[in-house]
Amino acid sequence: MPHDSAQDSAHDGAHGGAHDDADEQRILILAPRGRDADVIEGVVGRAGVACAVVPTFADLASQVMRGAALAVVTDEALAGADLAPLAAWLEAQEPWSDFPFIVLLSHRIGKGDSALKAALAALANVVVLERPLSAETLGSAAASALRARYRQYQAREILVERQAASAELAALNDTLEAKVVDRTRALSQANDRITAEVIEREKTQQTISHYQKMESLGRLTGGVAHDFNNLLNVIQGSMDLLLLTNSDEGVQRRAATAKAACARGAKLTGQLLAFARNQSLDLQSLDVGTLFRNVEELARPLLGARVEIACHVEAGAEFVAADANQMEMALLNLAINAHDAMDGQGRITFRASLPDQLPALLAPADYVRIDVSDNGPGMSPDIAAKVFEPFFTTKGVGKGTGLGLSQVYGMAQQSGGVALVNSVPGQGATIELWLRRASARVVEAPLAKHAAHALAGLAILLVEDDDLVRAGMADALVSFGCTVSQAGSGGDGIQALRRARPDILLTDYLMPGMTGAELAAEARTLYPDLPVLVATGYADMGAIEGALGINAVLRKPFQLADLASAVARVAGARRDCTQA
Ligand SMILES: Nc1ncnc2c1ncn2[C@@H]1O[C@H](COP(=O)(O)OP(=O)(O)OP(=O)(O)O)[C@@H](O)[C@H]1O
Ligand SMILES: [Mg+2]
Repeated sequence: MPHDSAQDSAHDGAHGGAHDDADEQRILILAPRGRDADVIEGVVGRAGVACAVVPTFADLASQVMRGAALAVVTDEALAGADLAPLAAWLEAQEPWSDFPFIVLLSHRIGKGDSALKAALAALANVVVLERPLSAETLGSAAASALRARYRQYQAREILVERQAASAELAALNDTLEAKVVDRTRALSQANDRITAEVIEREKTQQTISHYQKMESLGRLTGGVAHDFNNLLNVIQGSMDLLLLTNSDEGVQRRAATAKAACARGAKLTGQLLAFARNQSLDLQSLDVGTLFRNVEELARPLLGARVEIACHVEAGAEFVAADANQMEMALLNLAINAHDAMDGQGRITFRASLPDQLPALLAPADYVRIDVSDNGPGMSPDIAAKVFEPFFTTKGVGKGTGLGLSQVYGMAQQSGGVALVNSVPGQGATIELWLRRASARVVEAPLAKHAAHALAGLAILLVEDDDLVRAGMADALVSFGCTVSQAGSGGDGIQALRRARPDILLTDYLMPGMTGAELAAEARTLYPDLPVLVATGYADMGAIEGALGINAVLRKPFQLADLASAVARVAGARRDCTQA
């Protein structure tokens, strides 16, 4: 008969692990003497329960460990048997299991039966029946032991279910914790993102309000500067005429002083107009290297020997779209600011480069960034926020106008770029000029120089709403030998044009009722090839130049020589056209 050793099956049956259902239902019988085993099997197997008869105690032990519902043993089989392995297995049963034995005694237990007593104690859950006994007694003892064993199996099932449920619960707990951790992390990430967005939005809001403030300042200063410009024009024109017509030395000297003052005034209004972005800009492709050299040459005597100047132009950043004069003025302003900040000693670097990233509010396009940096004391964020405002200066009364950086700012804006300040206190300052990148220098054909005497005999219709300005200009034109008819408004100008065709229409731009550009358009419907000259320091030069041509603008304030050459230019262009 095959049987396992106690060791091999120690992990089966009541010790958990896999168990064979058929084995678990059976009754083991150990009754070595005579036909005992058959008789017992006949009684206990009556109800259809499977029985297995084993020959030795060692076999019984191994079969019990394999799985059984009950063991029926006669006392002779216990005598001299090695009980230890089975006793150890019984001791270590799972909580639901208490394996039952029925031991059939051949005699009543007496004083000398200590070995038998010990054996019964080792078997633990034992029902002892004395022979001879009736079949009913054995049958009912076996039935109740089986019942008890089946209840143990049910308890095992419930335990297993409970264990499974609690394992599932533990697993759920674990995933719940993981989910809570995940969700917490996602929430904190969302929170970080929202905070970053709020900060970003605040920054943009600040940039926008700063921009709006500069816009309204620009409109205000532009208006004031325009009116001032007209006054300067009158004074300057009158001084020019005085110088031309009066040879008295005292008069000449005073007129020259007044002209010099006008020139200074014109520089101021020029800066204001630049800030207001109403300066007439002549946007061209500028060679940055040449520009740097010119500025260095101009700045050198002003900066003194203790200021070092360095210039770098990176590949690809050689050309920008800008007005040459305004750019020179801007870079000169920046160099002088740096000189002043460094107290006349230090290093100024001009650098042109191609930027990787554009600042906010700058329309997407190709830009060159021109940096002017110094190693002076730099400025605090408070000051840096105000430097572009007109009249903001930290220099003493009479020392600074506070218009230098305003000119730089307006010029950059009007050129389609932007000016920014970048400074950390104690680490110098950098002013950045972001300008549109240009492809290459477009060399314009130099304008033919026309002498004033070329104007003699030209019939000019002069339209200007400011009586003083008009009278001054008319005087000047007459002094060149022109015939001048005058009108005080666009409407009067049209009347005059209908009466007679002049050689040239010279008109102011900003007039009540009708602008110079509208008047010019009207004049061109009457006389399609009439030469037109628009005098202004304020208007959108691009629009006029677009409508009337690049030579049609006379920038205010102008010197007499400018007026003469502008008139000669449009008259000459006209003559060239008719000759061609
Ligand atoms: N490179 C610089 N380093 C430190 N501060 C500067 C620098 N450039 C300008 N600033 C600050 O910006 C202010 C405004 O400069 P801005 O050129 O507009 O006027 P200004 O230099 O004071 O007057 P002006 O240009 O008429 O001489 C200066 O007064 C100074 O406080
Ligand atoms: Mg300055």
